[in-house]
Amino acid sequence: MRNKMSSAQNSIPLRIGIAGLGTVGTGTLALLEQHAPLLASRAGRSLVVNGVSARQRQRVRGVAIERYRWFDDPLAMANDPEIDVVVELIGGSEGVAKALVEKALSLGKPVVTANKALLALSGTALAELAERHETSLRCEAAVAGGIPIIKGLREGLAANRITAVYGILNGTSNFILSQMRQTRQSFAHVLEEAQRAGYAEADPSFDIDGIDAAHKLTLLASVAFGVPVDFHTVHVEGIRHIAPLDIDFAEELGYRIKLLAIARHGPHGIERRVHPSMIPHSATLANVEGVFNAVYVEGDFCDRMTFIGRGAGGGPTASAVVADLVDLARGYYCPLFGEPVAVLTSSSPVAGIERRFGEYYLRLMVSDRPGVIADIGAAMRDHDVSIEKLSQHGRGAGPYNAVPVVLTTHAQGEPAMRQALKAISALPAVLEPPCLIRIEAL
Ligand code: HSE
Repeated sequence: MRNKMSSAQNSIPLRIGIAGLGTVGTGTLALLEQHAPLLASRAGRSLVVNGVSARQRQRVRGVAIERYRWFDDPLAMANDPEIDVVVELIGGSEGVAKALVEKALSLGKPVVTANKALLALSGTALAELAERHETSLRCEAAVAGGIPIIKGLREGLAANRITAVYGILNGTSNFILSQMRQTRQSFAHVLEEAQRAGYAEADPSFDIDGIDAAHKLTLLASVAFGVPVDFHTVHVEGIRHIAPLDIDFAEELGYRIKLLAIARHGPHGIERRVHPSMIPHSATLANVEGVFNAVYVEGDFCDRMTFIGRGAGGGPTASAVVADLVDLARGYYCPLFGEPVAVLTSSSPVAGIERRFGEYYLRLMVSDRPGVIADIGAAMRDHDVSIEKLSQHGRGAGPYNAVPVVLTTHAQGEPAMRQALKAISALPAVLEPPCLIRIEAL
């Protein structure tokens, strides 16, 4: 009897074309080379890179690419008869990346992509295109780097109705918030550090303004709840306005600030939101630090669980890309969102941010003079918002004479809080735009 390895060596290899040779592309090349025998054994056939394409051929990459066939044009690579599967690691929701994925799928070739922006905006149409051409579109690497959360939801938890999926989906912003807390360095300094480490997106605003997390949340919600992608209904706020001061006040109040991405299937419909949140110190997610991501899932039969792992970087993301390639080599097929596009529930109502009911933290920079606290209290009273705690920190100094006032509220609806915030922002004594952070009871 032949052993597994020799049968793997004798069967037809899966010929892979990789477009995009940045951190993830080169990580994928390195992984495929380093684990070639192991992967062949697991897939029952070898996984061979038979073409690469990137914007620049001559660039120091840390991996030698001369041995691979080079394509200036990734679409020509997709068209090549000696390429069986296309790995799209170019990124971007339009342009070459989209054209490449459409081209490969139209040719009936499977595609593996890490492109959350593309899928968050065009995932339903691309999944439909894959189905029409009886091929596969896979995206494990698009969400939470090395954490197998797409597979976890779609395959491991396929027996459940999922009611909630939320967590920390952007490694860069989690790294920034963690570093700011631990080192007391400025936001700008820590962002540079994240960019040097290769975590941040090419356009860092995607990371720090919550857009990247919203792209990922869109995909998770579709897989979890069996609905078409709906990026435009995600409420998105980023972390630019979080000051070291807020991080300190959060600690004093027993909270930690995290950029949370939250999707829930509740009585009012599907809720999708990304914003900085204060969560209790003791919560599992509060202790997920640095570039790590974490995803909490609640299902009717499985109950609750949390996945934690590295959400960015070449190695972890390559691990997810190659897991999809192994599935393809094994001949495993599954619709992108776990159900064919035709049966996704397109009629689920959207529960917008105005449906949120919970506690809030508010930090104001105000003039240090009599009557200011009374004015703030009156604005809250006028909008029926109940204050839980209120404190002024220190005395105002310098020409600006500004002093921080911090308050937390009892649980109430978002619309009332917004009205109160508007009234408070308009007070002459309020010197800077207020910082509002939702407190999430996890
Ligand atoms: N820039 C992303 C992050 C990694 O910081 O999480 C890729 O998804």
